[in-house]
Amino acid sequence: MIRVTRRFPSLPYFWSLIDWTLPSVISHKRLLLKVQNVADLALVAQKRTPKVVFDYVAGSAVDEIAYARSKDAYARIELNSNVLRDVSEIDTTEIILGKTVDLPICFAPTGYTRLMHHVGEAAVANVAASKNLIYTLSTMGTTSPAELAQLVPHSRRWFQLYIMKNREDSLAVIKQAKDNGFETLVLTVDTPVPGLRYRDNRNGLTIPPKIRLNTVAAIARKPRWWLNLFTTGKLEFAAFRGWDKSLSELASLIFDPSTTFEEITWLRSVWDGPIVVKGIQNIEDAKSVAQLGVQGIILSNHGGRQFDRGPVPLEILEDVVAAVGNKVEVYIDGAVMSGLDALGAIALGAKAVFIGRAYLYGIMANGEAGVDQVIEILRKEFINGMALSGSRNIAEVRKNGARIRK
Ligand code: GLV
Repeated sequence: MIRVTRRFPSLPYFWSLIDWTLPSVISHKRLLLKVQNVADLALVAQKRTPKVVFDYVAGSAVDEIAYARSKDAYARIELNSNVLRDVSEIDTTEIILGKTVDLPICFAPTGYTRLMHHVGEAAVANVAASKNLIYTLSTMGTTSPAELAQLVPHSRRWFQLYIMKNREDSLAVIKQAKDNGFETLVLTVDTPVPGLRYRDNRNGLTIPPKIRLNTVAAIARKPRWWLNLFTTGKLEFAAFRGWDKSLSELASLIFDPSTTFEEITWLRSVWDGPIVVKGIQNIEDAKSVAQLGVQGIILSNHGGRQFDRGPVPLEILEDVVAAVGNKVEVYIDGAVMSGLDALGAIALGAKAVFIGRAYLYGIMANGEAGVDQVIEILRKEFINGMALSGSRNIAEVRKNGARIRK
């Protein structure tokens, strides 16, 4: 039997083992120190924002099945894994519409970002700019195109557009994008009508939030969030400031159920720059759109927030890339929550992925620093996954390939 002799510990050795840092008394700060992945940040986000706001981000349409299926599909990706490759140098850069980005991960448009955290769209764009990534401002943004361009002049910015009921209204919005250095229009086409968001209805979501009797209790629970809301300017669709219309009047103008492929041809005639069509959900539509002179498509189910029985974008990715990948850049979104989700989609042929909820969890958890942290988490996971699957660059990721387990 091995015998271990015990001795009295030396005091300096014992001393050197003590960690003298005091835990923060602020609970979200303690939680932030433990954050490893985006799901951890979502937990902090939940602690820091009112339920109605957190649920607006986390929730999706009707029974929330489409989002769950999308999330499950990403979890089922299995990359081919090659060992004994020299992966001491990893290059994550990709060229998106002719310019290099540091990661094939773009910021999707998200409405009302100042509702999630008062620093809003500009803070997200600032992170994107500092990391050489693309930021897409939503038509329903709470920061106007002009404000964004002024606050983050060096950002590589795209503008998300709906074809509105009146073409002059669309033109007025397009003009703002043009005048303020937005390089690409992202046309959302999966919203002929708004999705049915039961979670939001149950929570009584209104924008801006209404002050009701029970709001007082909500304020007491998240006083800082409410203070920021009250002291940082009106929450409104900033691109329509001065239009003298209520939010609901604007919303009814923004969605046009009669929109068809012809509007893409029209958009092509009034916008010289690149056009990306967001919300494609089958191969035939991808082929039709690719013939209309657009530069990219985003396979998207709007994060499950529109049609709750549509196909899972990831499951049609390979076929769509095979059909139109030589004509347009094919991007994908819907439930990218980790660097490995992103890596898997790239291995299945996507040019890039778009993240929405992931960065919103970051901003709700910790403002701009939280968004920064999301990108660094995704980057770390992406690079780690590349090394462990034996890919040195994005071309090799695609060559090595992946499959979605049944
Ligand atoms: C806006 O596009 C939303 O999904 O809420």
